[in-house]
Amino acid sequence: MTRRALITGITGQDGSYLAEHLLSQGYQVWGLIRGQANPRKSRVARMMSELSFVDGDLMDQASLVSAVETVQPDEVYNLGAISFVPMSWQQAELVTEINAMGVLRTLEAIRIVSGHNGSRHAGSSGQIRFYQASSSEMFGKAAETPQNENTTFHPRSPYGVAKAYGHFITRNYRESFGMYAVSGILFNHESPRRGAEFVTRKISLGAARIKLGVQEKLHLGNLDAVRDWGFAGDYVRAMHLMLQREEPGDYVVGTGAMHSVRDAVRIAFDHVGLDWQDHVVIDPELVRPAEVEILCADSSRTRAELGWEPTMDFPELMRTMAESDLEHVAREQQYADLLLAGVW
Ligand code: NAP
Ligand code: GDD
Repeated sequence: MTRRALITGITGQDGSYLAEHLLSQGYQVWGLIRGQANPRKSRVARMMSELSFVDGDLMDQASLVSAVETVQPDEVYNLGAISFVPMSWQQAELVTEINAMGVLRTLEAIRIVSGHNGSRHAGSSGQIRFYQASSSEMFGKAAETPQNENTTFHPRSPYGVAKAYGHFITRNYRESFGMYAVSGILFNHESPRRGAEFVTRKISLGAARIKLGVQEKLHLGNLDAVRDWGFAGDYVRAMHLMLQREEPGDYVVGTGAMHSVRDAVRIAFDHVGLDWQDHVVIDPELVRPAEVEILCADSSRTRAELGWEPTMDFPELMRTMAESDLEHVAREQQYADLLLAGVW
């Protein structure tokens, strides 16, 4: 039987990579779409013609019940969230509603449609399996380095606090109701599809624009922050593997290598042939009210139990993103030139 997956957050970076991965594994894949005319739907639909869509919003319980009822999924991946940390200080309540309560609503939708523990029919052993996109941001002011599945959480942003709720409610539904519900504690992962508000893409796009004469300066905040950055395409494989285990469990996913924002800048600017010190401006407005200074994953359990390994290191990731943005900016310029010339 063809397996069916429902993905919330289909229009985001991870949603598109996960859908591609699941389609390549023979799944039928549905993406949850919010809004009456979501402009990002056509972009992801163009990438994958086999993808199906169902309407719904993590703010709306009934819509999630209806989505689960329609799709009858074997696996539900909850990737939907407001994922940009600074926004969580400005709209803390909204971020809590979506990133925390949205997890509870999705778990409840599974229980409402399929019974107490997610079994699809009375007496059936086939449960709907649930994946929650937890985050290394929950470690925040990290109690130890590197961080593993047992490291205490000390979130530093409303985003991190909301993710901690999502993490614990997922574990609680597993323990309370016997649901197959797991969290992947994923460290930062990036790609050419990363939103331009996140620092790696802001840097790769900034370097490309400066190189091609579209922008002069790149404004950044804290260059000393250290992250464990990996490639998003690798991380979605781990999400899928977590739902294939006999026993449900939570796993940390990261590369184990630490780099600073300054390293990211240096690699991207080197790649486009510029000296970053001529172009980067430190903007105190971009420094966060409470910073997460250092994150680094100890993924030894994930590697041993899931057989997961990352395929791309950080320098290669930054160079790939910078190269992709050089092409992207050059295409935008060509388009603008054609518009000016009246060709389009
Ligand atoms: P992203 O690119 O920002 O995508 C977020 C997705 O959430 C979008 O598809 C967005 O859809 C959707 N969404 C927002 N509000 C929603 C709502 N009310 N109802 C339904 N969907 C909603 O994020 P990402 O990088 O792919 O990350 C995926 C998940 O992993 C997120 O939960 C994030 O917090 C978590 N995470 C990410 C990382 C990372 O480094 N990327 C690390 C750890 C955890 P619209 O098109 O409707 O806005
Ligand atoms: N965005 C941004 N913009 N960050 C900057 C800038 C800037 O101009 N300058 C310095 N930084 C620093 C931030 O202060 C932070 O320490 C680091 O760069 C990374 O910022 P982001 O790329 O915005 O990612 P994040 O670590 O806050 O959050 C991402 O990773 C989490 C996992 O740890 C997001 O994807 C979250 O959704 C995810 O949970």
